[in-house]
Amino acid sequence: MKTSSSPWLTLILALTMSLLTACNGRQTEVTSPDGHIRLSFLQDDSLRMLYRVEVDGVPFILPSRLGFEERSGLNLSHDFHIEEVKHGTLDEHWSQPWGENKRHRNHYNEMAVALRDEAGTRLTLRFRLFDDGLGFRYECEAPGADSLLIVDELTEFRLAQEATSWSIPASFETYELLYRTLPLSQVETANTPITFRTSPFSSQSLTTMTSADAATEEVPKSDLSDDNHPLYASIHEAALTDYPEMTLVQTDSLAFRASLAPWPDGVKARFAEGVFKTSWRTVQITREAVGLINSSLILNLNEPCALDSTDWIRPMKYVGVWWGMHLGIESWVMGDRHGATTENAIKYIDFAERNGIEAVLFEGWNAGWENWGGSQLFDYTKPFADFDMEKIAQYAREKGVRLIGHHETGGNVVNYESQLDKSFAWYAQYGVHDVKTGYAGGLPNGHNHHGQYNVRHYRHVVETAAKYHTTINAHEPIKDTGIRRTWPNMMTREGARGMEWNAWSEGNPPEHHVLLPFTRLLGGPMDYTPGIFDILYERAKKSPDRKQWNMKDSKDCRINTTLAKQIALWVILYSPMQMASDCIENYEGHPAFQFFRDFEADCDASRALQGEPGEYVAIVRQAGEKFFLGAATNGEARTLQLPLDFLKPGVSYRATIYADASDADWVTRPLAYTITEQEVTSADTLSAYLAPGGGQAISFLPTEQ
Ligand code: NOJ
Ligand code: CA
Repeated sequence: MKTSSSPWLTLILALTMSLLTACNGRQTEVTSPDGHIRLSFLQDDSLRMLYRVEVDGVPFILPSRLGFEERSGLNLSHDFHIEEVKHGTLDEHWSQPWGENKRHRNHYNEMAVALRDEAGTRLTLRFRLFDDGLGFRYECEAPGADSLLIVDELTEFRLAQEATSWSIPASFETYELLYRTLPLSQVETANTPITFRTSPFSSQSLTTMTSADAATEEVPKSDLSDDNHPLYASIHEAALTDYPEMTLVQTDSLAFRASLAPWPDGVKARFAEGVFKTSWRTVQITREAVGLINSSLILNLNEPCALDSTDWIRPMKYVGVWWGMHLGIESWVMGDRHGATTENAIKYIDFAERNGIEAVLFEGWNAGWENWGGSQLFDYTKPFADFDMEKIAQYAREKGVRLIGHHETGGNVVNYESQLDKSFAWYAQYGVHDVKTGYAGGLPNGHNHHGQYNVRHYRHVVETAAKYHTTINAHEPIKDTGIRRTWPNMMTREGARGMEWNAWSEGNPPEHHVLLPFTRLLGGPMDYTPGIFDILYERAKKSPDRKQWNMKDSKDCRINTTLAKQIALWVILYSPMQMASDCIENYEGHPAFQFFRDFEADCDASRALQGEPGEYVAIVRQAGEKFFLGAATNGEARTLQLPLDFLKPGVSYRATIYADASDADWVTRPLAYTITEQEVTSADTLSAYLAPGGGQAISFLPTEQ
């Protein structure tokens, strides 16, 4: 079943293309369906290609370059003549088998500018304007060329206004970096998504510039904004499947240029024959910060589902033999502290079954861990002697619990690819159809993690896994650009600093969790792995087996949130595979674990209700008749008023509220929480207190009629 064309989809209006007559010489334009965003394509005297964007008549992106440099000198940047401009409109609804939202509206106006130069090279600039932003991509055809070697992409984003921005620095190797809150004019490099709020800004934002290397200077107020209405925007990309990732490098105060992850020889993108399409360059633009989260723009710019069937793909909650290794209580390698033993596996499967948790993950189960940091030659079909795969698989089957496999590559993608089919087939014979992958380590032969070579690898893994009806949860992945629309077995991924950093570093600061939804998660789900209840590692530190695996002195390590915030993160940090990441001993008998028992990983719809990047956020998710709300704050205490108008009218719900106690504080009293119950309807408003570094989670279950 291809989800895009199945009969239960409602196509409201078919794509209608017509030849544009209003192309004004070297300039042509397109607006969003509601008319408030306007994009113009234009050319200068050298027939170089540019675009500019206005929002409600006010310049938002000033004329910015488009084009490429090619190694052999093929012209892809100037002296192009417009051959044809086609305009069209699409307004359709489509469905995902799972997701933050299962139904999406894809409504845009398109302008395809077809250009040609004297040598016959054709370049089409395809622009799509939505009410909440825009995307554009390049489609190139150079007849006669037997290869194309892109050495530079000239795409610019020359922003018209100063803004407060949130981003991580550019790196072609990792996204596991701390976010910075910076005036846009002070951002030298950034990875995407980079999110920003144009001036005017609230003075409050200045007090939250807390990330390690953030500047503390004030952002100057803009002349252009006089109506007290900032714009929120985020630059990212969509459908990155055969191209290097795009980062941004500052070229002038508010001007940024695409900077692509290179191949070892410096080429950025290579294509056999003279034909290629880039991923989409995207700019989400909304009036409210939560509008960015509630947007479907990134998914809409991806291709429809490529799989013949998707009924084998299911969201799930899971626990796993995992946190003990990061704390040093257990080990990935076989030995006294080995985590993935048959005995431990049985214990975790029993726990999952007792608590209605669909799946269990095991790391450190296969040969290769003993050489960690060396050749990284893992064997994906050879379990350690104390991990009886046959017995564990049978036990899991009997208990109705799924097993999540683990393929750590240590970065050795060549070794992994040589075993890929065999590895998925081997797992499949044991009923393992969900695999977490990992790329912790440098790639062979001078490749980097985010270049075109590895983008192709990540996609190849997803496509190969699909043949075995297997889903993927990638760690150290390529950034999420929404390819789950095309391959819905690409479930979730890491791609930011996750929970693990709290085990062996200074950890993730309180603002991190209220930045992720406005930045990293705009691309898609994240396997952050929330839910550590032993916040101060009091139980872990008592373990005689504790040996620090890496990094810092253990006395500094802890979780930098309250307990209630850990619960709220299960809702806020969306992942269709959602983990309760603590060692199961810390959940046994804990009253607050009831939230996870009630929680559904398979949600139907989501809405970000309130929030400000780096400050706070409140998100609600609906799963059938149930609703789950998560709210969280940075280091500041605050009280949110939450109208419950998202509940079904006329239905009465039992709200179970997992809140910070009035004296809770992430630094001094992180474990102080309360659980209260209340009967509510959609007409009610709840007042939610969030302690410093705290949060609140609420489950709404319909009361028996
Ligand atoms: C890094 C991953 O993010 C983490 O989840 C995993 O446990 C380790 N690598 C080992 O594979
Ligand atoms: Ca990681």
